[in-house]
Amino acid sequence: MNLPAASTASLATNSLEQHWMPFTANRDFKASPRLITRSEGMYLWNQNGERLIDGSSGLFNVAAGHGRREIADAVHAQMLQNDYTAPFQLGQPASFALAAKLCGLLPEPFNHVFFTNSGSESVDTALKMVMAYHRARGQSQRLRFVSRERAYHGVNIGGVSLSGMVRNRETFPVVMPSVVTIRHTWDPDQAFTRGQPERGAELADDLQRHCETYGGATIAAVFVEPIAGSTGTLVPPKNYLERLRAICDRHGILLVFDEVITGFGRLGAPFAADAFGVMPDIITMAKALTNGAIPMGAVAASDEVYETVTNAAEGTAIEFFHGYTYSGHPAACAAGLATLRIYEEEGLFKRAADMSAYFLDAIWSLRDLSVIRDLRGYGMMAGVEVFPEDGKPGARGNELQKRLFWNGCHVKWTGDTAIVAPSFVAERAHIDEIIDCLRRTLDDI
Ligand SMILES: Cc1ncc(COP(=O)(O)O)c(C=O)c1O
Repeated sequence: MNLPAASTASLATNSLEQHWMPFTANRDFKASPRLITRSEGMYLWNQNGERLIDGSSGLFNVAAGHGRREIADAVHAQMLQNDYTAPFQLGQPASFALAAKLCGLLPEPFNHVFFTNSGSESVDTALKMVMAYHRARGQSQRLRFVSRERAYHGVNIGGVSLSGMVRNRETFPVVMPSVVTIRHTWDPDQAFTRGQPERGAELADDLQRHCETYGGATIAAVFVEPIAGSTGTLVPPKNYLERLRAICDRHGILLVFDEVITGFGRLGAPFAADAFGVMPDIITMAKALTNGAIPMGAVAASDEVYETVTNAAEGTAIEFFHGYTYSGHPAACAAGLATLRIYEEEGLFKRAADMSAYFLDAIWSLRDLSVIRDLRGYGMMAGVEVFPEDGKPGARGNELQKRLFWNGCHVKWTGDTAIVAPSFVAERAHIDEIIDCLRRTLDDI
């Protein structure tokens, strides 16, 4: 469809047809487009010049707020200094500087970082690291991977294989064959639990059952999002992650935390591993690593994983046959370094921790709305779930996302759950504004 001239004044094109948009109902969107033409701090501006508050910090990645000049300046300076260096058998200072900074932020024993360009690439990289690790230890029989129902691990074939979201899999049946799932942890009987549910740790024993069915020594790794994000903020029950860790240890299975959403302060601590006090063997990350300004992901490996893989190779041989043309791109590294500096100088992770109680109180204030089915939350991340329309799961969520946009708020919906996750620069008044818009919109459906 062609946009009316008035709304295209500042756009380079007046046609939306050519761009096949991701995870978007293209025909519906192009019939009634929602475009953002400017962003700053907690706000976005649409094609009509109307202001919206960003209730999901983009896709939970713009943790320090939009339009951070420090990041733009750092990227600009890096591009003028050195725009690109081939990353294989050659290096450039910014990637080493960023890796060192990240390792300073990560819990012990994570002292090694592999760079990617997205969360999906991080997940696929982690899968290969796991395979390389077991091969190096002479345990190539560990071919089976375990993930969870309702998991989201990105869109590459490895991540889709681990996915527990039916719509992300059904069109793509030919994926990695040897993935088995354990149950998700959402329990309707514990609806409206704030923080970690009391009951449900025993769901981790599904992993033990797989060990008994297939043999623990055939399982390579378990992938979990510490809080399942993309199916609507499913907070793990108390002692659940601890129990997964214990079963992994018993059987020599690696535990991978996919921290693409939970990393970088979202839970009020640098990583979910810190927040929940459970150490995995590998951590995937992306999103807030560059505050959303430049695509970048990373995978942190424990000393044990890194040293096992590197020490197994002969002499000067390449140890890990994996990498991307844009692994550790100088511009992304500059953005990452500037972002981590902002987090540190502005104490944003502490700010997220301090703001969490106010934020969750505000979310729970929606409880009286008749459309609300459940509220979940931890740190600066909440799930606001509404009852589905009869026989049409996801339709109401889709409609609400659009109505919220025109009512002045961007919130990402997944099925019938809104994922509310403001940036850490949010003031109380910003949170009030997001909640007010949610209340007005949800009350009217
Ligand atoms: C837990 C998790 N893993 C992986 C991904 C994929 O990241 P990306 O969209 O950057 O590929 C996401 C994205 O939301 C995610 O939430």
